[in-house]
Amino acid sequence: MALRAPKGTTDLIGRDGEAWHFMQQAAISCFAKYGYKIIETPTFEQLDVFVRGIGEATDVVGKEMFLVNSTSSLNKLVAGEKLKSEDVLALRPEMTAGVARAIVEGNLVPPDATTTKFVYAAPMYRHERPQKGRLREFHQIGAECIGAPEPSADAEVIIMLIQFFESIGIPKDKMRLLVNSMGDDNCRPAYRQSIREFILDHAGALCPDCVRRADTNPLRAFDCKNADCQQVLSSAPKITDMLCLECKEHYQSVKAFLDASKVEYIEEPRLVRGLDYYTRTVFEVQVSEGLGSQSAIGGGGRYDKLIQEFGGKPTPGLGFAIGFERILMVIDAVGTYKFGTYGIDVYVAAVDDSTRAQSFAIARELRDAGVAVELDHQNRSLKSQFKHADKSGAAHIIIVGPDELNQGVVKLRSLATREEELVKLNDIVASAKDRLFNSE
Ligand code: HAM
Repeated sequence: MALRAPKGTTDLIGRDGEAWHFMQQAAISCFAKYGYKIIETPTFEQLDVFVRGIGEATDVVGKEMFLVNSTSSLNKLVAGEKLKSEDVLALRPEMTAGVARAIVEGNLVPPDATTTKFVYAAPMYRHERPQKGRLREFHQIGAECIGAPEPSADAEVIIMLIQFFESIGIPKDKMRLLVNSMGDDNCRPAYRQSIREFILDHAGALCPDCVRRADTNPLRAFDCKNADCQQVLSSAPKITDMLCLECKEHYQSVKAFLDASKVEYIEEPRLVRGLDYYTRTVFEVQVSEGLGSQSAIGGGGRYDKLIQEFGGKPTPGLGFAIGFERILMVIDAVGTYKFGTYGIDVYVAAVDDSTRAQSFAIARELRDAGVAVELDHQNRSLKSQFKHADKSGAAHIIIVGPDELNQGVVKLRSLATREEELVKLNDIVASAKDRLFNSE
């Protein structure tokens, strides 16, 4: 049987691969203006990093993890042996938990440190039912801002996210920014209890999953995809009516910073996000076009307890992640594709076999000087090299013929105007660069 890419994965080829590269660069340079530095953590971690970080009762951990087994750990399991917890590994479904693990392990943000900011761009893995905009391997760009408890940090992170979306061609009027506060350890337990009671009171009208969540993690019911459940839950108590004074003030202040910066947002008291580490501010950017039933192109929030949960000193944190594949779909549907492409500048053609070695040397000299060069490796005729040159997108062709070589020159021809000149071998790099970068 023919070999195929696993379900829910895609090959990023051509424009898509280039878009991923350019989008990473765009994010890194946009976020660098706010002080973000690159972090890369392993693609797989101990399963416990995700269980403790994201929460066992979330769909991401409870249903969607890809476990990683070496041959020897698999053999142990088959033989009925137990693995040590450090040998139970999983592919990362998101990056925040791994970043928090790295911060604690490396003491990257000691208690007296100034705010430390991390940016990443990497593939993530969730075993979901694949559909439009929902993959098993997908790519995220994310940012984590560590050590800043103040609401201005929340507003800064949200503004940076919106600015980035606009900068890559998603029109402002196509985005909806939803915000909410999830409270903290003071006020959330009472809210959780009130949702538990609401679920039990409405058990007959809710799906079995939601009813089960009453005992495991009642707030997860808000993530249920069932439209009937959503209808019932729309009359459930709102967290914003039950926030403690500190959380209420924090939330109001975040909104005041957004208002002062003229950022439009919608308060959505049922926005709980699918990961358990959030405290206080949560937010999501949604679009209504191009994504099928998926609408979130990015989201995040504050996680003031996560680093402590991993054994670190109490350290506040917040951040977001953006889904690359979804952004690309939205850009194709409603935006303007703004990323560049990698192109060839010059094609070097050999007139016959006697000049192939010299053509090869010229190509190398040009590449050393930073010119993008293509040449033939299939022994093609000059005519078919010309066709290849046209297809390559090169702006110029250098034609290396035996007679010209004897006189110490080659032909340099513009593929747009077909104008041609003879260039001395010693001047090839300077002439090619001049024609490429200085001509109109
Ligand atoms: P998340 O909402 O789970 O948050 O994922 C962020 C974004 O990743 C989503 O808005 C979506 O665009 C994209 N995404 C998620 N799952 C898939 C999928 N199966 N296929 C395609 N795209 C997907 C997080 O991951 C948090 N770590 C964000 C965060 C950072 N919170 C604080 N810091």
